[in-house]
Amino acid sequence: MAARTRGGDCVTVSTNGGDGVTASKNGAAPLVAVENLKVWFPIKSGLVLDRHVGDIRAVDDVSFDIHRGETVGLVGESGCGKSTVGRTILRLYKPTAGRILFEGRDISRLGEGQLRPIRRRMQMVFQDPFASLNPRHSVGRIVGEPLRTHGISGRRDTSTRVGELLRTVGLPADSAGRYPHEFSGGQRQRIGLARALALNPDFIVADEPVSALDVSIQAQIINLLEQLQDEFDLTYLFIAHDLAVVRHISDRIAVMYLGSIVEVSPAAELYENPLHPYTISLLSAVPIADPLIERQRSPILLAGDLPSPANPPPACRFHTRCPYVQPTRCRDDVPLLRPLATGHTVACHWAEEIREGRIKPHELEPVFEPGPQERPEEPPPV
Ligand SMILES: Nc1ncnc2c1ncn2[C@@H]1O[C@H](COP(=O)(O)OP(=O)(O)O)[C@@H](O)[C@H]1O
Ligand code: SF4
Ligand SMILES: [Mg+2]
Repeated sequence: MAARTRGGDCVTVSTNGGDGVTASKNGAAPLVAVENLKVWFPIKSGLVLDRHVGDIRAVDDVSFDIHRGETVGLVGESGCGKSTVGRTILRLYKPTAGRILFEGRDISRLGEGQLRPIRRRMQMVFQDPFASLNPRHSVGRIVGEPLRTHGISGRRDTSTRVGELLRTVGLPADSAGRYPHEFSGGQRQRIGLARALALNPDFIVADEPVSALDVSIQAQIINLLEQLQDEFDLTYLFIAHDLAVVRHISDRIAVMYLGSIVEVSPAAELYENPLHPYTISLLSAVPIADPLIERQRSPILLAGDLPSPANPPPACRFHTRCPYVQPTRCRDDVPLLRPLATGHTVACHWAEEIREGRIKPHELEPVFEPGPQERPEEPPPV
């Protein structure tokens, strides 16, 4: 059995924009550490000269880490940079700046030859299993492909191993001779998982692995991911655009907005005490099982669309949509991730005031109700 950390017995502090301080209660180094990662995609213009006219700042100074056996959920709305983080950790993209450490080794600048043995240990599961499986190849060939690419086993060994992998993910062994279109969405995701497991990886980036599936099937795939984690001591980065999906599988959750991480917390704590206004608004849209409470709630609707990552708002990137925005600091200073509770960090200047209810959400003009510390002192009686 894997040393499971679900439930949050790992304490990790990451500082965005700082030097990525990492401390684990049991002293073990993280399996994956991301330090001040930037991934910018150049915008080119001009037919002939291909001038560099700007950058899409898909990931802009992101720091976090993932411990062995842990699942970190990475959540945020579409376009905020989640897939780019996952793909860059796997070195499918080259970082613009910052470091990626795998078992303490900096892999951010390694060439293809040096990456080859590391690639075996890190795999990806995609959102759309159909698009990621070659429709002209049999399931046996698809699942056995990584073994052949890495020259791991001969033909007979490969077919035995493929049968074993298919059983592990709950597919009948005769699936090997069939083709992806003969399977349902959930079964195709199982094929993707079998392929990802072929090389006995340590770390899997699951990029929205259930977003394309029916709700009833989502739970089956999440349960399977949990079983596989226990059986094979896997570590996951689980990407989703919806906080409801990551709730049960994650030990910790990192919330991302427009290229930055705005909050990191043990999973249960995040749902009980969300601190960042963006997390609060995401959570307000997650249904609650209790119908009485559910009826009294109203989702916080964010104004406008996600701004362009080519031209992100200055200071706090969320200030153009934040229901709690204040006249000072929000538009002037970049809020850094800072700890507010054990293992719970947030990048908001006003997180304490929001937590204590001293700043309320507002629709138009910012309203700031001063707390006892901020109230001007009464003049002494004369
Ligand atoms: N290969 C690429 N080239 C240029 N822009 C990209 C590329 N990949 C992603 N982007 C842009 O980077 C931003 C973040 O994308 P992505 O990481 O896919 O977000 P998410 O997974 O959160 O939806 C988006 O604006 C997207 O258009
Ligand atoms: S720093 Fe200001 S704009 Fe940013 S999340 Fe906090 S209150 Fe909102
Ligand atoms: Mg994505």
